[in-house]
Amino acid sequence: MAEVRSIGVVGGGQMGSGIAQLAAVHGVDVWLHDTDAEALTRATKSISTSIQRFVSKGQLSQEVATGALQRLRCTSNLEELCSADVIIEAIVESEDAKKKLFSELDKLAKGSAILASNTSSISITRLAFATSRPCQVIGMHFMNPPPIMKLVEIVRGADTSEETFNLTKALAERFGKTVICSQDYSGFIINRVLMPMINEAFFTLYTGVATKKDIDTGMKLGTNHPMGPLELADFIGLDVCLSIMKVLHAGLGDSKYVPCPLLQQYVDAGRLGRKRGIGVYNYRKVTGATNLSSRI
Ligand SMILES: NC(=O)c1ccc[n+]([C@@H]2O[C@H](COP(=O)([O-])OP(=O)(O)OC[C@H]3O[C@@H](n4cnc5c(N)ncnc54)[C@H](O)[C@@H]3O)[C@@H](O)[C@H]2O)c1
Repeated sequence: MAEVRSIGVVGGGQMGSGIAQLAAVHGVDVWLHDTDAEALTRATKSISTSIQRFVSKGQLSQEVATGALQRLRCTSNLEELCSADVIIEAIVESEDAKKKLFSELDKLAKGSAILASNTSSISITRLAFATSRPCQVIGMHFMNPPPIMKLVEIVRGADTSEETFNLTKALAERFGKTVICSQDYSGFIINRVLMPMINEAFFTLYTGVATKKDIDTGMKLGTNHPMGPLELADFIGLDVCLSIMKVLHAGLGDSKYVPCPLLQQYVDAGRLGRKRGIGVYNYRKVTGATNLSSRI
């Protein structure tokens, strides 16, 4: 494949919409697919708001912005992605759901297409095994939010070819990202290190060591992190954090990865973080600022 001209993005949530925006701004034709029509409506709105914000800050010309919005198409029909050079999956962090999707994508995508996953932790080798083209399956892990964060973590499955790796790396670099490479072990690099810290912050809250405000302020000012771990968990999505801890625990087999019961309880209660208006913090009562004084 000479150059990637079109991509398909599956999953129009916070990551999929951001990846679609990034690609469109960098001159790639994009089909964005989600099974939920409302998610596509939300994605269209958030992409156009985000692009206009870049324009008003002088970081993007109006011409590029207009072109990007023209290059982006949303669909609830997965078949529309059949002509894409690369398909990037960003659906829910569930191995079963992703395997089913990869098997479907394998059947409809053109023979030369690369199938990439934005998974935070799930085995690329096992997703690849659900297809007939394991050498063309790879992990392309964007950070949140994809249009802003500078990093892409690329994960090679056991059979990922050098050509697939080089094309994926070139695509990430065309998007202006710095690439790091990980072997295919649960959590890769970023979440292997980050999630146990977030989980430990939940245990610190759960066992009454400190308030959420002191845990977050402590980690922000004491270790120079831009966000505290609980605030970051709300930003990522508590359901995503819980899924990653379960993958780390199952994949690496160490009890240090057991998810904190408080994290599990918040997810059970639908407190998924910013995307639901409530997680560790309550974002519903206050506009424009995190309500640090809300109840646990
Ligand atoms: N949230 C983060 O900070 C972050 C960062 C890096 C990677 N990721 C990974 O990106 C992926 C998506 O995370 P997110 O935060 O965007 O989740 P999200 O909940 O915001 O969005 C997921 C979307 O996928 C859609 N979906 C579910 N099953 C589908 C299917 N079979 N076909 C089509 N669409 C389907 C849902 O309707 C939803 O709109 C996960 O694998 C996650 O681990 C998340």
